[in-house]
Amino acid sequence: MNGTHRGPALESLDKHWTESALAAFILAPDSLASLRPRLRELTDRFPDNPMPSYPIPDDHRILLARFLLELR
Ligand code: HEM
Repeated sequence: MNGTHRGPALESLDKHWTESALAAFILAPDSLASLRPRLRELTDRFPDNPMPSYPIPDDHRILLARFLLELR
């Protein structure tokens, strides 16, 4: 799958992320996107839809990251 026009497909994330890094990304996507070349490429593919920050409680972000890492 290639994702939609809004953002990338969320698959095989465990190849690229640890749980804590992904939880940090959910809170502040733009700060990590500028640091990681792979994310910079994704950002360039979806220039009109920057990933929004989700300032949800820390424990929810960890659970969300854990769930995302299980997607195939
Ligand atoms: C619950 C909501 C969301 C979750 C859980 C989520 C999750 C993620 C994850 C895990 C990545 C990293 C993908 C990878 O490493 O291959 C990502 C990247 C990205 N997401 Fe989201 N996303 C959400 C909502 C959105 C929305 C609403 C948009 C845009 C309208 C969006 C746009 C993007 C873009 C453009 C990227 C590429 C990297 C970047 O530009 O920062 N996301 N998202």
